[in-house]
Amino acid sequence: MLAPRIAYLIGTISEDKTPNLIPVSNLTSASTQPQQVVLAVYKQWTTYETLQTAPGFTVSVPGIDQLEAVWKLGARYSRFPTASAGEKLAARGLTLDHQASDYGPVVPAGIGWMSCRVVARLDLGGDHGIVIGQTERVWFNPDYVDRDGTPRGTPHPVMQQTGNQFTSTANEFTSMPYL
Ligand SMILES: Cc1cc2nc3c(=O)[nH]c(=O)nc-3n(C[C@H](O)[C@H](O)[C@H](O)COP(=O)(O)O)c2cc1C
Repeated sequence: MLAPRIAYLIGTISEDKTPNLIPVSNLTSASTQPQQVVLAVYKQWTTYETLQTAPGFTVSVPGIDQLEAVWKLGARYSRFPTASAGEKLAARGLTLDHQASDYGPVVPAGIGWMSCRVVARLDLGGDHGIVIGQTERVWFNPDYVDRDGTPRGTPHPVMQQTGNQFTSTANEFTSMPYL
């Protein structure tokens, strides 16, 4: 119903220093000044547990050519078998940068990434928990986006329609004049 939505990759590091990266479509802007984003994570996921104490998280925006890796990273949803979180990341065929942020791995070949400090955690009694992050750093991949965030060419983010159905139709832009 609220689809299609971009599948972002949320990077975290657990208390025992294990990096993790999972697709999350429940993410939106909650403030522009300062930049804040809100995300909702299912309470059964390891990422939810990590975010209860983690100081921050990263958000990468994968391109459609990275769909297979995105799908596999969502192992508990896509039912892709994995032994451990470390093995999961190694097996996905995505080049990760573990140095760029202390909060979690990022995907340099994607459309861009940002790192966010956790500023609030909310439990509204539902099956997902809500985490609000304040953006500390933003990086746009110059292959896809200009420094001010304007798309260069036609970036194709991964968008989930429903379940295992994906699209990447954000490839035609129409400009409207500001009135
Ligand atoms: C395209 C896609 C979008 C997803 N969106 C969300 C989401 O918004 N919130 C969420 O909690 N899980 C979402 N998931 C499921 C998690 O990514 C998946 O279950 C993951 O394996 C959890 O891993 P973890 O237990 O290591 O944190 C999504 C999965 C996919 C494939």
